[in-house]
Amino acid sequence: MEKKLKVGVIGATGMVGQRFITLLQEHPWFELTVLAASARSAGKTYREALNGRWVMTSPLLDRIAEMPVFDAVNDMDEIVKRVDFVFCAVDMPKAEIRALEDAYAKAECPVVSNNSAHRHTPDVPMVIPELNSDHISIIEAQRKRLGTKKGFVAVKSNCSLQSYVPALYPLDKEYGVQDVLVCTYQAISGAGKTFERWPEMVDNVIPFIGGEEEKSEIEPLKIWGKIENGEIVPATSPRFTAQCLRVPVSDGHMAAVFVRFRNKPTKDEILSVWQSFKGKPQIYELPSAPKQFLHYFTEDNLPQTKLQRELEGGMAISVGRLREDTQYDYKFVCLSHNTLRGAAGGAVLLAELLCKEGYLTSND
Ligand SMILES: NC(=O)c1ccc[n+]([C@@H]2O[C@H](COP(=O)([O-])OP(=O)(O)OC[C@H]3O[C@@H](n4cnc5c(N)ncnc54)[C@H](OP(=O)(O)O)[C@@H]3O)[C@@H](O)[C@H]2O)c1
Repeated sequence: MEKKLKVGVIGATGMVGQRFITLLQEHPWFELTVLAASARSAGKTYREALNGRWVMTSPLLDRIAEMPVFDAVNDMDEIVKRVDFVFCAVDMPKAEIRALEDAYAKAECPVVSNNSAHRHTPDVPMVIPELNSDHISIIEAQRKRLGTKKGFVAVKSNCSLQSYVPALYPLDKEYGVQDVLVCTYQAISGAGKTFERWPEMVDNVIPFIGGEEEKSEIEPLKIWGKIENGEIVPATSPRFTAQCLRVPVSDGHMAAVFVRFRNKPTKDEILSVWQSFKGKPQIYELPSAPKQFLHYFTEDNLPQTKLQRELEGGMAISVGRLREDTQYDYKFVCLSHNTLRGAAGGAVLLAELLCKEGYLTSND
């Protein structure tokens, strides 16, 4: 990359926003030029706006801490002049998020979003870069609808399914994934929380995460979808059923998966598909891509959240305990880092893919 693209983070003070900052402080292709959040934070330096909320383990660089924070809504005109695109991760009502993201896109500022607001808009690609990178070509249809040359919205999927969908998707082509039952064990950072801010979670499990089971069952079908007449038409198969539990873990979503195939593979065939699977991020060698997307662990007590969540910068998926099941064909467990692969890291990887394929360009 000859010249870095200028990027802003909308929702910079939040849990995901902070992750974006750690990933963008030294990024080889992107230069962090704007931080934005709510009117509560606007006009302050980033350090002042955080007011002690920095929860990342890596340090915040002074040059970032001293940057001014803009109001994402009211300062939009100023923000779009200073960036080539933005990442967005805000806690606002869905209708307001949709309006905000559309406004940036219509102002010719592409938006790579962590929010769920646009995940089911038919011409908005929802991409796990290793799996359905072909969906980004829908951006041309979206630009037509928005009347833009450059602006668009692209989103990443919910964090829960980024643990189990990566292991299932590569098996579908040859063996036909038919039915999936999944139980997820999700970290508290997925709710934007730490143990200090959510003491009820210490020594506790909460068997409900609002909206999560629906997302975990429905969103994979868009990932499996096909482009037809300017829309992504969700698939009708595989069938997913999910239970999502909040567990006392800081970072890392684990999933216990049961799967039935139309054409049952052997255990070795499954392991071979996982071992050899590569997506465009690996082929292009994108800066945030894990070298090996799916890591299989043969030890019975792996993967473990604390040991494997940071694997390949938190961007790889850990899989283990593959064995035959009495009711389904197989069962196994998967783990992914929810604020890295599942949120900010996944969005940065998507932006790298969009950049490589010419959808993100410099305004200069
Ligand atoms: N945490 C995860 O693992 C995860 C994973 C995938 C997706 N997501 C999604 O990412 C988004 C952010 O999640 P989070 O966990 O980072 O939330 P969070 O920690 O609560 O942070 C929310 C951010 O939104 C900003 N904000 C709130 N109201 C705003 C407004 N009216 N205008 C502009 N900015 C506003 C906040 O700014 P102030 O500080 O100024 O209030 C803050 O920067 C959500 O849509 C969430 O569903 C989260």
